Amino acid sequence: MHLPSALVAVSALAASCIGHSMLSKPAPRGNIEWWGTCAAGAGCKGPCDAPKSNSTFSSIYVPKTYVKRGQELEVGWNRLNHPGGFVRLALVPFDQSDDWTAFNDNVLKYTCYETNCGPKDPSDDQFGHLNGAGDAPCSTKVTVPKNIPDNTAVTLQWIWYGGGVYYAQPEASFGEYYGCSDMIVSGGPSSDEKPKADFQGGDVTYPNSNVCKYWGSNKVGDCNFGDKKPNPIDGDLLSQSLEPCIRGPELKGAPYGFDSGSTPPESSSDASSDASSDSASDSTDATTGEYETSPDAPEVPENSDSETTDYVGIPEEPSKCITRY
Ligand SMILES: *[C@@H]1O[C@H](CO)[C@@H](O)[C@H](O)[C@H]1NC(C)=O
Repeated sequence: MHLPSALVAVSALAASCIGHSMLSKPAPRGNIEWWGTCAAGAGCKGPCDAPKSNSTFSSIYVPKTYVKRGQELEVGWNRLNHPGGFVRLALVPFDQSDDWTAFNDNVLKYTCYETNCGPKDPSDDQFGHLNGAGDAPCSTKVTVPKNIPDNTAVTLQWIWYGGGVYYAQPEASFGEYYGCSDMIVSGGPSSDEKPKADFQGGDVTYPNSNVCKYWGSNKVGDCNFGDKKPNPIDGDLLSQSLEPCIRGPELKGAPYGFDSGSTPPESSSDASSDASSDSASDSTDATTGEYETSPDAPEVPENSDSETTDYVGIPEEPSKCITRY
């Protein structure tokens, strides 16, 4: 592919943006291999930005995030100049956080990527209506499930998929991006009922309908690039990613399994992902998503009566990311 050199120059800036963390709160696990955010296009297989073994969660030196059952937890991410797509949130015991099947079976919520955020200049139509640059913070709220026992270490997974305008191409979609945040559930009202996956639509482009603007596919797993890995060539930025995922026009709709009237899917695992098929296939379905004590569980302080959610280490956005794709 031949791009004008000016475009390649700004793309270089964008490439370093794509690399850093999109999930901003609660604080992501973080990783060193994928420059902060784990991109399927860069060869990351998820389900988290870094594996469980890389989490600093067990370290006594790292302050923990505490949440209560029934609490409305705010989850935030940065738009990073990219319009459209969906965000999927799922929560599993920390012990199961390397397991795609566990996350797919425990989806809490789907929402739009541009929930309450949008481009800096709404009149910039170069790449389509409301598809311009802008690194606004975006957020949604998710209810901490009431079926989690006290002092359980859990992992919240954030996925962005169906995003558009890959490298200034208005008809090219991004691959999936993954981020995870570890926390401890303690206190709050209990219930045995497992929460159902919910869809909350409405974004900057379609604020009053239960849909989102997206590109490519509305289904998790369609843009995970399977077993493929990129073959980076020195000096060729585009070779560092398998993206774009799907070519096609901007779309409007609900996530796979939902209609725009927000009917829950038959089963949350319908929206299953085939990424890292190894870990997904040899997991025991019967136990996924169950909250049991395991010898691998990190130390949980006995007296965790902290009322506030302690968001630690939220990184500042580098200024170089306020650039176009
Ligand atoms: C996990 O930790 C290992 C050992 O420090 C490191 O080599 C690897 O890059 C880390 N993985 C991620 C995704 O950060």
